Amino acid sequence: MSRPVPLLTAGGLTKAHGRTTALRGASVELHTGEILAVTGASGSGKSTLLHCLAGIVRPDAGSVTYDGRRLEGLPEKRLSELRRTEFGVVFQFGQLIPELTVLDNVALPLLLAGTDRAGARARAGQWLERFGVRGQEDLRPGELSGGQAQRAALARALVTGPRVVFADEPTGALDSLAGEQVMTALIHTARESGTAVLLITHDAQVAAYADREVRLRDGAVAALGVKA
Ligand SMILES: Nc1ncnc2c1ncn2[C@@H]1O[C@H](COP(=O)(O)OP(=O)(O)O)[C@@H](O)[C@H]1O
Ligand SMILES: [Mg+2]
Repeated sequence: MSRPVPLLTAGGLTKAHGRTTALRGASVELHTGEILAVTGASGSGKSTLLHCLAGIVRPDAGSVTYDGRRLEGLPEKRLSELRRTEFGVVFQFGQLIPELTVLDNVALPLLLAGTDRAGARARAGQWLERFGVRGQEDLRPGELSGGQAQRAALARALVTGPRVVFADEPTGALDSLAGEQVMTALIHTARESGTAVLLITHDAQVAAYADREVRLRDGAVAALGVKA
């Protein structure tokens, strides 16, 4: 049987930030429902790769294809629509809006997508409950623990039912127990819903949750490991 077409493909990505070349010819594939760990030393280009794949940053050269669509050919409006509807993003910390309640933070992507307020808040509440953030809906993010805030951030990334979640060291600022809880919540939900996950980490224990690992070195893929 032939291999299925990847959901997301990047080929020969290069990207410079001023004089620093962050990516030099990075190529990667992500299949539907696959959990891919991206590892590599600090400064190896992991975050830049994620930003290019998620359509947040346009690469200088190379191509990103999502579900048959080449991102570099899309106008900004279509790209932002794609990000809103198909992608979810989780960063290391500090991504919840401090002025909004936890519930409204999670409801926000739905409101932006046109869901009515009551419906958005109801769905947001369900996702918070699912991630074990109960009874804290009306607090501000600053009143949550780091682990709770990351689980709320996961809820926000998943609330619209994206096909791909991009997670940039989502447990990097957490202690090991809180990190474990966040990772378990993410992996469990992704497996259940068939959501693909591109997970940046430099924690081998976190990478162990993935189906496959890609290692970056100096802005390119250094080694591909397929687990038995
Ligand atoms: N906005 C930026 N401005 C200047 N240099 C940057 C910027 N973002 C990243 N870099 C540089 O690009 C390289 C790759 O960064 P990054 O993609 O963040 O790597 P990683 O996530 O693996 O630590 C590093 O040398 C970093 O300092
Ligand atoms: Mg990074």
